Amino acid sequence: MTRRYWLVLIAALGIALHYRNPVRATVKRAYANVRAFDMPTAGMYDAIWASLLGGFYSRVADEVAATCPSGTVLEVGSGPGRLGVRLARSAPRLNVTGVDLSPEMVELANHRAAEAGLPGERVRFKVGDVGALPYADGRFDGVVSTLSLHHWPDPALGLAEIHRILKPGGEARIYDLGHWLWLPANSDSRLDRLATESPFGGGEVEVVRWPGPVPAFVLLRLRRN
Ligand SMILES: C[S@@+](CC[C@H](N)C(=O)[O-])C[C@H]1O[C@@H](n2cnc3c(N)ncnc32)[C@H](O)[C@@H]1O
Repeated sequence: MTRRYWLVLIAALGIALHYRNPVRATVKRAYANVRAFDMPTAGMYDAIWASLLGGFYSRVADEVAATCPSGTVLEVGSGPGRLGVRLARSAPRLNVTGVDLSPEMVELANHRAAEAGLPGERVRFKVGDVGALPYADGRFDGVVSTLSLHHWPDPALGLAEIHRILKPGGEARIYDLGHWLWLPANSDSRLDRLATESPFGGGEVEVVRWPGPVPAFVLLRLRRN
């Protein structure tokens, strides 16, 4: 190598060493942001991902309204509120409460509900953790969740909490990505075991084909006795 290349290499190393801490801190912050769905991740998720899933949310809203046409449904991990608002609109006798760990997502969801002209009695979103749901026992007629289960640090605790806040006879419908989308925990056998070991004592696992014939999602159905 010529002397010039050595100088460039040494200068590059010097710059990398000098800026290593700020770069590391920025990468760490960005990663925490993505994991916590803070802004800008919440806004990006809403604009890019969730906006593509309109057909899926319509289908889920129809399925929830068919099994729980009136009363109050809790949406766990409600994100930017696209499903909750759709559900409140399509099922006029059903009120929707959404809960999400990310304050930014909750803000987006409440903004969406206000823009849709839905009053707080029909649909509202608040900050909360599925592992410690801020509601009394037996408060809800149904529970729905989409694409959130794989984020829960302790899914068993999440199911126990969902069981606690459901009324006897109420159904929880938990939709998530299929196991072949890098989520081995969502295989039929593992979801089946999760349900069996939960206070529900068992559940049903179904493949959900959307869009078209693509088996992109899985549904875990649980009923409280
Ligand atoms: C991929 S987003 C899905 C959002 C929405 N359900 C949808 O289908 O667009 C996952 C959501 O789950 C929320 N979440 C993750 N862990 C959670 C927890 N422990 N309790 C409540 N919400 C949680 C995240 O904040 C995020 O909004």
